[in-house]
Amino acid sequence: MNSNIRKIISKKNKTKIVSLTAYSKSIAKILDRHVDIVLVGDSMAQVLYGHKNTHKINLKNIIDHTMSVKRGLKNSLLVADLPKNTYLDAKTAFKNAKLLTSKTKCDAVKIESNKKNYNIIQHLVKKNIPVMGHIGYTPQFKKKFKIEGQTKNEILKILEEAKAIEQAGAFSIVCECITPQAAKIVTKELKIPTIGIGSSMFCDGQVLVTDDLLGFSGFYPKFVKKYANLDSVIEKAVKKYTREVKLKKFPAKSNFLNGPKFK
Ligand code: KIV
Repeated sequence: MNSNIRKIISKKNKTKIVSLTAYSKSIAKILDRHVDIVLVGDSMAQVLYGHKNTHKINLKNIIDHTMSVKRGLKNSLLVADLPKNTYLDAKTAFKNAKLLTSKTKCDAVKIESNKKNYNIIQHLVKKNIPVMGHIGYTPQFKKKFKIEGQTKNEILKILEEAKAIEQAGAFSIVCECITPQAAKIVTKELKIPTIGIGSSMFCDGQVLVTDDLLGFSGFYPKFVKKYANLDSVIEKAVKKYTREVKLKKFPAKSNFLNGPKFK
């Protein structure tokens, strides 16, 4: 296990782990100064590519964006999603995870669980590919959104799944949209950190889709807090530019790229 991964695990019970998504170098460079983990998530499907779910993102998409993000990072741990259908069995998962990690030099891959895939996690870890698990609402597998862990029985099932992922060797687990009750129990029972999204403050860390918190994605469910309104900042700038072009105020003389003076 590399030292960056060990550093993340050692934060459990000491300090909250902070994580955000990035799909490009420019955003990654800013995140790198602040967050512990940068995730190249398959959420890029909706956020960047305008798809209605994450299913059409392929390994090449993830590799291209992870390479871009890597160029912006010096400090943060870089985790990239393995897209849907790229880890159907242990052998395929290894082939694809190896390609992803060797091309992008990311530190780890994230795979979603569907109350299975434990053997896949175990195989990747054995082959020295660190894995972040993902439980609760797992968009690659669940057709309909549902908050998970609403009954005692459901909480026990989530706990069982989380423990199996830990046992398989994952170094952390994203808990997406599980109830605070479930988050509290899972976080207490596991030795590895839980990273919550829509799963209360009881997790060891938090992750959000950066475009959501910047107010740039148009997707703002209750669990997202908008820390900025980039939509309106961009709108204002584009409006001003349009006006200035029409009024011939831009480009101004100061923007000219002057060549030699002709007589
Ligand atoms: O794809 C993604 O961005 C994710 C986060 C929402 C955890 O998986």
